[in-house]
Formats: sequence, C-alpha cells, structure tokens
Amino acid sequence: MTTALVLGIESSCDETAVALVRGDRTILAQRIASQNEAHERFGGVVPELAARAHADRLAPMVETVLAEAGMTLADVDAIAGTAGPGLIGGVMVGLVTAKALAMAANKPLIAVNHLEGHALSPRLADANLQFPYLLLLVSGGHCQLLGVEGVGRYRRLATTIDDAVGEAFDKSAKVLGLGFPGGPALERAARTGNPRFTLPRPLVGSDEPHFSFAGLKSAVLRARAAIPEPTEQDIADLAASFSQAACDCLTDRTARAIAAFPQATALVVAGGVAANQAIRGALGDLAASHDLPFVAPPMWLCTDNGAMIAWAGLERLAAGDIDDLHAPARPRWPLDPGAETVRGAGVKA
Ligand code: KG4
Ligand code: ZN
Repeated sequence: MTTALVLGIESSCDETAVALVRGDRTILAQRIASQNEAHERFGGVVPELAARAHADRLAPMVETVLAEAGMTLADVDAIAGTAGPGLIGGVMVGLVTAKALAMAANKPLIAVNHLEGHALSPRLADANLQFPYLLLLVSGGHCQLLGVEGVGRYRRLATTIDDAVGEAFDKSAKVLGLGFPGGPALERAARTGNPRFTLPRPLVGSDEPHFSFAGLKSAVLRARAAIPEPTEQDIADLAASFSQAACDCLTDRTARAIAAFPQATALVVAGGVAANQAIRGALGDLAASHDLPFVAPPMWLCTDNGAMIAWAGLERLAAGDIDDLHAPARPRWPLDPGAETVRGAGVKA
C-alpha cells in the first residue's frame, strides 16, 4: 500500500480535479479547476456547461499532473475515477476518461463512489484515524451521518428528509444576494453579523434521527422579504442567524448519532460544508464534550478534489477491490444500500 500509486479523477459536479497520490499519503501532484465563472451568472451549476468544461479540461490536466510528478501512466498502479453520484454528464466524462487511461495503460480501473471519496478523505489527512468512526458528511447534495466501519462498509444513521445543508447555504446566500458559490460567501457575511433573527431549527430535539433544512431556508426567504431595503448589516445579521441555526441543527443531530454509534473512535466531518469554520468549531466542542477526538480534513480536502478519489482508490486497491471496464456511471449511488428511504420531498439517498 505505501508505495502504490493511484491517479484520481473527479468530475461529478463543478470541480474538474486530478491528483496522483501514493499509499504513504504523499500527494505527488494535483490540479483542481473550479468552474465558478461559467455558472456564476446562472446562480447555480448548469449541468451541460459543467460537462463540457470537464471534457475540455480533463485530458490536459492528467498530462500536467503526470508531468509535474515526473511520471508516466506506466508508473501508476491503478486509475480511480468518480463513477457517481453526481451530475451524470460530468460523471460520464470523468469515468470514460478513467476507463480510456486504464485501457491504454493496461492498469486496473477503480470506479469510486464520490461519497466514499469524502468519507475516507480524513484518513488521507490523518494516518492515525482508525475504523470505526462517526462521519458527518455535509456537501451540496448530501447531509448524512454515517458509521464508517471499514472500506466499503458504511452504516447510514441519518440523512436529510428534504434539502442538503450545502443546498440550504447556497439558496440562502442567493436570497441574500451574496453571490455564488453561496456557502463561502454566506460564511464571510456571517462573520460581521449579529444573529438577531429568530429562525427555526427543524427536527432539533426530535426522536427521529434525520435532518431537515427546507423550513430554515424558507424562513430566511421570509425574513429577507420582510425587510424592503436591507442594509449590509441586515444581510450580515440574517447570514449570522442562518449560520447559527444550521450549526445547531448539525450539532443536535450529531449528538444523537454519537449515542446511537457508541463504538466510534472519533467524530469526523467531511464534504464541502466542512470547510465552514463555525461548523468545525461547534463540532469540535461537541466531540470534546463526549471525550471523542475530532478530525476535520484541511479545507481544500473538504471541497471536491482529485486526491480524495485517488485515496479512496488506494484504499480499495489495498482491499483488492477493483472494477472492470463495464463499471456504470451512477447518478444515484447510496453508500449504504440497505438504508431505508426516508419520507419527504426530494429524498436524498
Ligand atoms: O463537497 P462539495 O465540494 O461538492 C458536493 O459534493 O456537493 O460541496 C459543495 C458545497 C456547496 O453547497 C458549498 O456552498 C458548500 O459545500 N460550502 C460551504 C463552504 N464551502 C463550501 N458551506 C458553508 N461554508 C463554507 N465555507
Ligand atoms: Zn463532494
């Protein structure tokens, strides 16, 4: 494992990313190109534009990463590509690229679940993190608590019954005129705000394990609409109120999962929303109050990147779990296929 070398390709949303990672956790080279300019004027990711941008960028990016590391495909032990879940056009571009490289170089293909990439990324950052751990996976499309028992062994303890928390950040930022991408913009605005607005905290204190963010998002919309000409301070105050409510929802549900998964050796957060400092701080405090170590990967590793896909590939390679060239692109691909579907609109696996 320590000398194995895997090329990772990520293209499931609006980041085109490639990385070359060694089993000893060395990132030999990587590139991440975001497409913010392409989607900004639409206020959200346009799938067709995203797929085209991935198609334009991926091949030269693979060349650059290999050249920077002074390697060729012959030096690589496997090619790992995101095979889902995500925007299907982008997933197909990345997976077909990974298949073509694997075929041309006669190397094994590893079709990686993007969520597994996020779920295992904390082990790339922290060599001491052992299974089982409790993972809060928070991104633009997902909000889940998972018991991570091993590579390929995930127990879903909770999911959202409506929106993902990242989606709530993005939509609230849009309503507040904070621009795209919304999560980081809302976090910046919240820093100078006073959380003076009373906003709901859906499902907090509930006996059921799941998350809900739709009511919080709508409350931001109503509160904004009630101020005809908001000042910059009003917007910052609304952002701070949203941020605090979102934090409260995440920590309350996570506290419940800590009780439901007592075998956890650590509390771990991953996914794009894990880049949020207020959320990291609140989860760190929660872990400390339960005497659990808290692990949060560096911020660049929280948002989409190729290194987490390469790392998931390395973990799968070490477990002898590789794919053949028929591996399908999967727009939906739950980490725990046994988990029941939850009620609510826009059910997220
Ligand atoms: O994991 P990711 O890069 O892509 C998905 O797999 O969805 O997550 C993107 C999400 C977006 O909703 C983005 O607004 C959110 O992560 N995000 C943040 C922050 N940085 C990214 N949310 C809150 N605070 C941040 N600093
Ligand atoms: Zn992601």
